[in-house]
Amino acid sequence: MDLVSIRKSYRRYARHYDVIFGRVFAQGRRLALDTLAPTAGKRVLEVGVGTGISLPHYCPDSEVVGIDVSREMLQVAHRRLGDGCCPAVTGLVEMNAEQLGFADESFDAVVAMYVASVVPNPDRLFAEMWRVCRPGGQILVVNHFASQQWLLRSMERSLRPLSRAVGFRTDMELDHFVAVSGRQPVAIEPASLFGYWKQIQFTKSI
Ligand SMILES: C[S@@+](CC[C@H](N)C(=O)[O-])C[C@H]1O[C@@H](n2cnc3c(N)ncnc32)[C@H](O)[C@@H]1O
Repeated sequence: MDLVSIRKSYRRYARHYDVIFGRVFAQGRRLALDTLAPTAGKRVLEVGVGTGISLPHYCPDSEVVGIDVSREMLQVAHRRLGDGCCPAVTGLVEMNAEQLGFADESFDAVVAMYVASVVPNPDRLFAEMWRVCRPGGQILVVNHFASQQWLLRSMERSLRPLSRAVGFRTDMELDHFVAVSGRQPVAIEPASLFGYWKQIQFTKSI
Protein backbone atom coordinates (compact mmCIF):
# COMPACT_ATOMS: atom_id res chain seq x y z
CA MET A 1 0.00 0.00 0.00
CA ASP A 2 1.19 3.54 -0.72
CA LEU A 3 -0.48 6.94 -0.46
CA VAL A 4 -1.00 7.23 -4.22
CA SER A 5 -2.92 3.96 -4.47
CA ILE A 6 -4.82 4.68 -1.23
CA ARG A 7 -5.97 8.06 -2.52
CA LYS A 8 -6.93 6.47 -5.83
CA SER A 9 -8.96 3.69 -4.17
CA TYR A 10 -10.82 6.00 -1.81
CA ARG A 11 -11.47 8.53 -4.56
CA ARG A 12 -13.35 5.69 -6.26
CA TYR A 13 -15.11 4.58 -3.06
CA ALA A 14 -16.08 8.01 -1.74
CA ARG A 15 -19.47 8.42 -3.37
CA HIS A 16 -20.73 4.93 -2.50
CA TYR A 17 -18.66 4.24 0.64
CA ASP A 18 -21.53 4.59 3.12
CA VAL A 19 -23.70 2.20 1.15
CA ILE A 20 -20.95 -0.42 0.77
CA PHE A 21 -19.26 -0.16 4.18
CA GLY A 22 -21.85 1.62 6.31
CA ARG A 23 -23.66 -1.31 7.88
CA VAL A 24 -20.91 -3.87 7.54
CA PHE A 25 -18.59 -1.86 9.84
CA ALA A 26 -21.34 -0.41 12.05
CA GLN A 27 -20.89 -2.75 15.02
CA GLY A 28 -17.20 -1.93 15.40
CA ARG A 29 -17.82 1.80 15.20
CA ARG A 30 -20.52 1.51 17.85
CA LEU A 31 -18.24 -0.51 20.11
CA ALA A 32 -15.46 2.07 19.78
CA LEU A 33 -17.74 5.00 20.62
CA ASP A 34 -19.27 3.06 23.53
CA THR A 35 -15.76 2.30 24.79
CA LEU A 36 -14.87 5.98 24.62
CA ALA A 37 -17.99 7.04 26.49
CA PRO A 38 -18.47 9.29 28.22
CA THR A 39 -16.78 11.64 25.78
CA ALA A 40 -18.36 14.78 27.20
CA GLY A 41 -15.63 17.40 27.55
CA LYS A 42 -13.08 15.15 25.84
CA ARG A 43 -10.95 16.15 22.89
CA VAL A 44 -10.98 13.21 20.47
CA LEU A 45 -8.97 12.64 17.28
CA GLU A 46 -10.39 10.24 14.71
CA VAL A 47 -7.74 9.25 12.18
CA GLY A 48 -8.91 8.01 8.78
CA VAL A 49 -12.31 9.56 9.45
CA GLY A 50 -13.34 8.89 5.84
CA THR A 51 -16.86 10.06 5.02
CA GLY A 52 -17.42 10.93 8.69
CA ILE A 53 -19.95 8.16 9.10
CA SER A 54 -19.24 7.92 12.84
CA LEU A 55 -19.33 11.66 13.50
CA PRO A 56 -23.07 12.05 14.31
CA HIS A 57 -22.62 9.52 17.14
CA TYR A 58 -20.13 11.42 19.30
CA CYS A 59 -21.43 13.10 22.40
CA PRO A 60 -22.31 16.70 21.44
CA ASP A 61 -20.27 17.99 24.38
CA SER A 62 -17.03 16.47 23.10
CA GLU A 63 -14.61 18.11 20.68
CA VAL A 64 -13.84 15.87 17.72
CA VAL A 65 -11.24 16.42 15.02
CA GLY A 66 -11.16 14.10 12.00
CA ILE A 67 -8.29 13.66 9.57
CA ASP A 68 -7.93 11.69 6.34
CA VAL A 69 -5.67 11.59 3.29
CA SER A 70 -8.53 11.30 0.83
CA ARG A 71 -9.92 14.65 -0.26
CA GLU A 72 -12.99 12.98 -1.80
CA MET A 73 -13.83 11.06 1.38
CA LEU A 74 -13.47 14.30 3.36
CA GLN A 75 -15.76 16.11 0.95
CA VAL A 76 -18.52 13.66 1.87
CA ALA A 77 -17.72 14.24 5.56
CA HIS A 78 -17.96 18.01 5.05
CA ARG A 79 -21.38 17.59 3.43
CA ARG A 80 -22.50 15.54 6.43
CA LEU A 81 -21.39 18.35 8.74
CA GLY A 82 -23.43 20.75 6.65
CA ASP A 83 -26.55 18.84 7.70
CA GLY A 84 -25.94 20.00 11.27
CA CYS A 85 -25.95 16.44 12.62
CA CYS A 86 -22.42 16.48 14.05
CA PRO A 87 -22.27 19.17 16.75
CA ALA A 88 -19.15 17.64 18.33
CA VAL A 89 -16.94 18.15 15.29
CA THR A 90 -14.54 21.07 15.47
CA GLY A 91 -12.37 20.24 12.48
CA LEU A 92 -11.88 18.03 9.43
CA VAL A 93 -8.39 18.15 7.98
CA GLU A 94 -6.62 16.53 5.04
CA MET A 95 -3.61 14.97 6.73
CA ASN A 96 -1.46 11.84 6.74
CA ALA A 97 -2.07 9.76 9.87
CA GLU A 98 1.58 8.69 9.80
CA GLN A 99 2.70 12.32 10.12
CA LEU A 100 0.17 14.13 12.26
CA GLY A 101 0.44 17.89 12.42
CA PHE A 102 -0.64 18.07 16.08
CA ALA A 103 1.41 18.75 19.17
CA ASP A 104 2.36 15.91 21.53
CA GLU A 105 -0.33 14.94 24.04
CA SER A 106 -3.03 17.15 22.53
CA PHE A 107 -5.98 14.69 22.64
CA ASP A 108 -7.75 12.76 25.39
CA ALA A 109 -8.51 9.89 23.01
CA VAL A 110 -7.36 8.82 19.56
CA VAL A 111 -9.38 6.38 17.45
CA ALA A 112 -8.66 4.54 14.19
CA MET A 113 -11.51 2.51 12.76
CA TYR A 114 -10.72 0.26 9.80
CA VAL A 115 -7.58 2.24 9.00
CA ALA A 116 -4.68 0.12 10.33
CA SER A 117 -4.85 -2.31 7.39
CA VAL A 118 -5.03 0.56 4.90
CA VAL A 119 -2.07 2.79 5.86
CA PRO A 120 1.34 1.99 4.36
CA ASN A 121 3.04 1.70 7.78
CA PRO A 122 0.81 0.61 10.69
CA ASP A 123 3.75 1.05 13.12
CA ARG A 124 4.04 4.75 12.21
CA LEU A 125 0.28 5.18 12.43
CA PHE A 126 0.32 3.78 15.95
CA ALA A 127 3.40 5.78 17.01
CA GLU A 128 1.66 8.98 15.91
CA MET A 129 -1.59 8.06 17.66
CA TRP A 130 0.40 7.42 20.83
CA ARG A 131 2.38 10.65 20.54
CA VAL A 132 -0.64 12.94 20.24
CA CYS A 133 -2.57 11.20 23.04
CA ARG A 134 -2.18 12.62 26.53
CA PRO A 135 -0.86 10.43 29.33
CA GLY A 136 -3.77 8.48 30.78
CA GLY A 137 -5.69 8.87 27.49
CA GLN A 138 -7.32 6.12 25.41
CA ILE A 139 -6.18 4.75 22.05
CA LEU A 140 -8.58 2.51 20.13
CA VAL A 141 -7.88 0.54 16.99
CA VAL A 142 -10.76 -1.32 15.33
CA ASN A 143 -9.77 -3.48 12.40
CA HIS A 144 -9.91 -6.77 10.60
CA PHE A 145 -7.02 -9.04 11.50
CA ALA A 146 -6.04 -12.30 9.83
CA SER A 147 -8.36 -15.13 10.74
CA GLN A 148 -7.25 -17.99 12.98
CA GLN A 149 -9.22 -20.47 10.85
CA TRP A 150 -6.95 -22.02 8.25
CA LEU A 151 -9.46 -21.87 5.40
CA LEU A 152 -10.33 -18.20 5.87
CA ARG A 153 -6.68 -17.46 6.53
CA SER A 154 -5.53 -19.01 3.28
CA MET A 155 -8.27 -17.16 1.41
CA GLU A 156 -7.14 -13.88 2.98
CA ARG A 157 -3.54 -14.65 1.98
CA SER A 158 -4.55 -15.44 -1.55
CA LEU A 159 -6.22 -12.01 -1.79
CA ARG A 160 -3.04 -10.19 -0.73
CA PRO A 161 -2.00 -9.28 -4.31
CA LEU A 162 -5.29 -7.37 -4.64
CA SER A 163 -4.57 -5.06 -1.67
CA ARG A 164 -3.60 -2.04 -3.75
CA ALA A 165 -6.64 -2.44 -5.98
CA VAL A 166 -9.19 -2.86 -3.18
CA GLY A 167 -7.58 -0.29 -0.86
CA PHE A 168 -6.85 -2.47 2.20
CA ARG A 169 -4.77 -5.46 3.28
CA THR A 170 -6.76 -8.61 3.90
CA ASP A 171 -4.25 -10.49 6.07
CA MET A 172 -2.77 -8.22 8.73
CA GLU A 173 -1.77 -10.26 11.79
CA LEU A 174 -3.09 -9.12 15.17
CA ASP A 175 0.08 -10.31 16.95
CA HIS A 176 2.24 -8.46 14.46
CA PHE A 177 0.26 -5.25 14.96
CA VAL A 178 0.55 -5.49 18.75
CA ALA A 179 4.27 -6.28 18.46
CA VAL A 180 5.01 -3.28 16.23
CA SER A 181 2.95 -1.02 18.49
CA GLY A 182 5.48 -1.83 21.20
CA ARG A 183 2.72 -1.39 23.83
CA GLN A 184 0.60 -3.71 25.91
CA PRO A 185 -3.13 -3.51 25.09
CA VAL A 186 -5.50 -3.23 28.05
CA ALA A 187 -8.18 -5.16 26.14
CA ILE A 188 -8.74 -6.98 22.87
CA GLU A 189 -12.35 -7.78 22.06
CA PRO A 190 -14.51 -8.87 19.14
CA ALA A 191 -16.00 -5.98 17.21
CA SER A 192 -18.31 -8.15 15.09
CA LEU A 193 -20.09 -11.44 15.01
CA PHE A 194 -17.52 -14.31 15.01
CA GLY A 195 -14.81 -11.79 15.91
CA TYR A 196 -13.93 -11.14 12.28
CA TRP A 197 -13.15 -7.55 13.30
CA LYS A 198 -11.53 -6.72 16.61
CA GLN A 199 -11.03 -3.72 18.85
CA ILE A 200 -7.65 -3.23 20.53
CA GLN A 201 -7.69 -0.80 23.42
CA PHE A 202 -4.61 0.88 24.89
CA THR A 203 -4.25 3.36 27.72
CA LYS A 204 -1.25 5.65 27.48
CA SER A 205 0.83 5.24 30.58
CA ILE A 206 1.17 8.28 32.85
C1 LIG B 1 -11.79 1.70 5.27
S1 LIG B 1 -11.84 3.46 5.38
C2 LIG B 1 -12.43 3.72 7.05
C3 LIG B 1 -13.22 4.99 7.18
C4 LIG B 1 -13.93 5.19 8.51
N1 LIG B 1 -12.96 5.21 9.61
C5 LIG B 1 -14.99 4.15 8.78
O1 LIG B 1 -15.19 3.79 9.95
O2 LIG B 1 -15.66 3.71 7.85
C6 LIG B 1 -10.12 3.86 5.55
C7 LIG B 1 -9.87 5.36 5.54
O3 LIG B 1 -8.51 5.60 5.93
C8 LIG B 1 -8.00 6.63 5.13
N2 LIG B 1 -6.52 6.56 5.15
C9 LIG B 1 -5.75 5.62 4.59
N3 LIG B 1 -4.45 5.88 4.81
C10 LIG B 1 -4.41 7.03 5.52
C11 LIG B 1 -3.35 7.82 6.02
N4 LIG B 1 -2.07 7.47 5.87
N5 LIG B 1 -3.66 8.93 6.71
C12 LIG B 1 -4.96 9.30 6.88
N6 LIG B 1 -6.01 8.59 6.42
C13 LIG B 1 -5.73 7.47 5.73
C14 LIG B 1 -8.63 6.38 3.77
O4 LIG B 1 -8.56 7.53 2.95
C15 LIG B 1 -10.06 6.00 4.17
O5 LIG B 1 -10.89 7.12 4.28
